[in-house]
Amino acid sequence: MTGPKLRRVVGALAEASGMRDAVLNELVRVGDAGLLGEVLRLTGDVATLQVFEETSGLALEEPVLRSKQPLSVQLGPGLLGAVIDGIGRPLQALAAAGGDFIAPGVDASTLDPTTRWDFSPVVTVGQQVRAGDVLGTVLEKGLVHRILVPLGKEGTIERVASGAVRTDEPVAWLLDGPTLHLWQRWPVRRTRPARARLASTEPLLTGQRIFDVLFPIAEGGTVAVPGGFGTGKTVIEQSLAKYAQADVVVYVGCGERGNEMAEVLHEFGALVDPRSGRPVLERTVLVVNTSNMPVAARESSVYLGLTIAEYFRDQGYRAAVMADSLSRWAEALREIGSRLQEMPGEEGYPTYLASRAARLHERAGRVQCLGAPERTGSVTLFSAVSPPGGDFSEPVTQACLRVGGAVWALDPALAHQRQFPAVDWNASYSLYAEGAEAWFAERVDRRWGETRSRLLELLQRDGELREIAAVVGPEALEDHDRLLLAAAALVRELVLGQSAFDPNDAYSSPQKSFRLARAAIDFHDAGRAALKGGSSFAELDVGRVRQALAAARDAAAADAEAAFLKLDEALRALGRTP
Ligand SMILES: Nc1ncnc2c1ncn2[C@@H]1O[C@H](COP(=O)(O)OP(=O)(O)OP(=O)(O)O)[C@@H](O)[C@H]1O
Ligand SMILES: [Mg+2]
Repeated sequence: MTGPKLRRVVGALAEASGMRDAVLNELVRVGDAGLLGEVLRLTGDVATLQVFEETSGLALEEPVLRSKQPLSVQLGPGLLGAVIDGIGRPLQALAAAGGDFIAPGVDASTLDPTTRWDFSPVVTVGQQVRAGDVLGTVLEKGLVHRILVPLGKEGTIERVASGAVRTDEPVAWLLDGPTLHLWQRWPVRRTRPARARLASTEPLLTGQRIFDVLFPIAEGGTVAVPGGFGTGKTVIEQSLAKYAQADVVVYVGCGERGNEMAEVLHEFGALVDPRSGRPVLERTVLVVNTSNMPVAARESSVYLGLTIAEYFRDQGYRAAVMADSLSRWAEALREIGSRLQEMPGEEGYPTYLASRAARLHERAGRVQCLGAPERTGSVTLFSAVSPPGGDFSEPVTQACLRVGGAVWALDPALAHQRQFPAVDWNASYSLYAEGAEAWFAERVDRRWGETRSRLLELLQRDGELREIAAVVGPEALEDHDRLLLAAAALVRELVLGQSAFDPNDAYSSPQKSFRLARAAIDFHDAGRAALKGGSSFAELDVGRVRQALAAARDAAAADAEAAFLKLDEALRALGRTP
């Protein structure tokens, strides 16, 4: 009897015969080189496989080996700080095995089996345990990594380890049952279950003023960040990875430039997380599938990233996934779909694009975790979308806009004016804004909601007035309109404008964000009072306020208080004519 054999290879797809008992999504080893692949379609005894590695070396009649397992990822201590490819292999191990080019078929486990971890059990002999229960903990780079009973396992603890344990060694033995390890496996395409889904009301702070104040994201929410070429998507995703208030960040570089990932590695390693005092890289898992890597793995990399985030969610943490970009994920779907000769939908994308995008977004959320002790965790998803030509009506952008709880739409005109983040406040929105307002009002300032509404109002009126001014000239405007334009300019340029490269302003605390926003509103109010009192717009010392606001924004933390005092003085002086 002969085993499965290759009978056709087209790009990232291959066909094998003798696959009668195979199942969809089963992982296979393709050809003599043992390339990793997955069953996409079954017709009789012929399976269509998508191959995650370069297929050019494959020849017909080479064997195909079935694994009887779906594509899955190892989850356990050792993930933090790891850099892995779209199917979970650590790049370092791949480089060691194959030099600068990844050797085909290299089998490298995500986690190093030989690393020892200091395991502290929390369960005792005789205790009943069930899926999701915390067995014990290891300390991984400042994070208490909770070791969970894998899904589908339960029983009575017969023996439990304590102290140094290798990643591949058991930590607990169940009576007449299986042994449990520090690591577990999970199929990447399947959502990890939770006890219950919870509403998302608390904001996940981003440290970016325009998001936290105008378009906040809730913990467990989803945001689409559509933007044409060079509008700042990657800079936003990287700023979020650095500063967003998540315990664990999974950064998925999906089909984008390789040098950007090198940048992430370099910068994140140098940057210290102010909350933990440890390098940001240590709370980050990097999934790298750059544009020069095979297209099928680009499709899987997003699911891999979500699975890792869910695993940390299940431990009771706030995980965030930054995907850059979902357009490349969708293009991979399109390429594979067209090779399968499926009926194409809009612009050649498969007809199931929207439902796949929806299912992917559904993996975000805040949950009550399975198992004891009780805990909640979340996965928040930030996805960049790169519409060709910046045209938001194209299918991928539309599919993501439909399912995103918030949209941060980037505008090339703003990027061109170097107004960064180049977020178009007219086209952006957040369904989480109302819930977040209550949270900010309680913790930062009770005027938070009012300040936010006033900013939005100012920006809207500003747009109208600037259109009028373009026709009649700014001199023709009345004083109170010119004041409004001046206030809105402060909002746009100094409050919402935030340089990702300014060491003092790359991160803005909610307190700082509020004070700057409020100062612009106070400027408008003080100016109006002065006009009412008989001053003319020309007499107002706008320049002084502007300077003081810029200084407060850019001050180092130690000088911030003094700078804000000066800003208050400038605001008070506004109405006083010399
Ligand atoms: N917040 C920011 N502060 C300062 N500069 C920024 C900011 N955001 C973007 N930029 C500038 O815009 C440039 C382009 O940004 P970025 O690479 O993030 O765009 P992109 O949308 O990812 O582009 P692409 O479509 O090519 O992937 C950056 O190199 C930087 O100079
Ligand atoms: Mg980019």
